[in-house]
Amino acid sequence: MAVVKSINHVAVVVSDMEQSLSFWRDALGIELHELRDVPAEKSQVAFLPLAGAEVELVMPTTDDSGIAKYLAKRGQGMHHLCLEVDDIAGMLTQLKAKNIRLINEEPRTAADGKKYAFIHPESTGGVLVELYQL
Ligand code: CO
Repeated sequence: MAVVKSINHVAVVVSDMEQSLSFWRDALGIELHELRDVPAEKSQVAFLPLAGAEVELVMPTTDDSGIAKYLAKRGQGMHHLCLEVDDIAGMLTQLKAKNIRLINEEPRTAADGKKYAFIHPESTGGVLVELYQL
């Protein structure tokens, strides 16, 4: 059976990165590790690691991505919770067997080699959940 190991990150969708960093970095004092453009996701992402988990601020850079539509519809706020698992393919099979609705039926591979997949909020009590296998 596949196992959930930890919370990897919490992602917050923002409309103005500098304004958002004025809270997370400047007011709270969390160190900004990296600010990166992610063209594949049409977004800019700020990584603010803490012990054991990370806060990620995600700002859409075009109007036509899924996250841009989310921001337009629901405004800024929590976007998803990411759980690290030991075996993402095994976990997806396990979830499908329990009739959990998945956004990605198969694991996808990010530019840095991480495998990920999203679970539909309809099956999670309203939270978009991302799975990661490092
Ligand atoms: Co994420």
